[in-house]
Amino acid sequence: MDRSIKSKLGIGVIGTGPMGMHHLKGIRVHPRLELKAVCDINIESACAAAKEYGISSYYSDYRELIARSDIDLVIIATPDHFHSEQTIAALREGKHVLCEKPMALTLDECRAMIAESERTGKKLMIGQISRYAPSFVLVKKLIEEGYIGEMFFVESEYAHDYSELAGVGNWRKDPIILRQPFLGGGCHSVDLLRWIAGDPYEVAAYSNRKVLKDWPVDDCTIAIMRFPNDVIGKVLVSVGCKRNYTMRSVFYGDKGTIIADNTSSYITVYKESIAGEKSLFEGVQQQTVGMQIPVEPNHHNAFGEINDFVNIILNDLPVQTDGRQGAATVAACLAAVESAAKGEKVVVNYDF
Ligand SMILES: NC(=O)c1ccc[n+]([C@@H]2O[C@H](COP(=O)([O-])OP(=O)(O)OC[C@H]3O[C@@H](n4cnc5c(N)ncnc54)[C@H](O)[C@@H]3O)[C@@H](O)[C@H]2O)c1
Repeated sequence: MDRSIKSKLGIGVIGTGPMGMHHLKGIRVHPRLELKAVCDINIESACAAAKEYGISSYYSDYRELIARSDIDLVIIATPDHFHSEQTIAALREGKHVLCEKPMALTLDECRAMIAESERTGKKLMIGQISRYAPSFVLVKKLIEEGYIGEMFFVESEYAHDYSELAGVGNWRKDPIILRQPFLGGGCHSVDLLRWIAGDPYEVAAYSNRKVLKDWPVDDCTIAIMRFPNDVIGKVLVSVGCKRNYTMRSVFYGDKGTIIADNTSSYITVYKESIAGEKSLFEGVQQQTVGMQIPVEPNHHNAFGEINDFVNIILNDLPVQTDGRQGAATVAACLAAVESAAKGEKVVVNYDF
């Protein structure tokens, strides 16, 4: 049967932790998806998810799920160090794959995932979900329309208190896995800046560990990056900070500035002058006020992401956040980690 005319695609979810459960919410309301099975190494978790979503099939071994002929695509929401193995296996079974971010922990793993997607012709999407946050989608559109003119500086911060978020089995603080926060969480900010300013080619970073002192990796990193067209940028990642989750990001151009956050209900736009309007307050320059444009504060837009992927599969379109995009984000993040460790600037390796 021609997949393109199937009324519904069969989908399976591997990993029923918080992120897998979040994806299930998006799947439930999608008119072209039918949840067929879930899997978690913790069978109780898989069973509970299956029950909640009204299906009878659940597994503890992902290989059983991907072997099913009624499943067209899978979401992989397991810890980062399983992404490569499970993605490659699912592609080999002829499934399209939405793999959670970060794509993988090493560039070698990314290369193998890209190669398998290209060999099988199956779609591979990496879950860089910031590209589906309404605030950032609007920022991208305004910048492409020339709203802030020529960009010269971009910055994004990923501040998220991980002290209670080590994940099932504490894999985020496992000294053998050595999951770097700048890659694991910082990939959101790096991917956002890459999406808007292009691929950074050089990185200089510093890091420390003053909050999550029992973690095997530094909890705070600042990375300065050089982007194409002489744009410079900065990414701050803190996973020990005591504050609310934010991805506050600022984009500076010679005609204006945009401040956006995926957790806010508006973005703020400063313009050189706003359509020739006079200042609202005497003696106060217009640009010191800024326009607030309302947006939906949907920072983990799982429905938007899976909806895009379904459309891509059904219409055989290219994937925006494909393996090469996912790998480029991994490459830039790893360059920052390396720079902080060595104490010297690092050229980003985009050889994949
Ligand atoms: N897109 C985002 O914004 C976002 C947010 C949070 C997490 N994530 C990513 O999603 C993934 C999962 O994150 P989480 O917070 O749900 O983690 P978690 O550790 O809380 O949950 C992971 C689940 O996977 C299961 N699991 C572990 N190994 C498995 C295996 N080999 N096979 C099947 N199941 C297995 C665990 O039992 C657990 O239920 C990670 O890659 C993480 O980086 C993405």
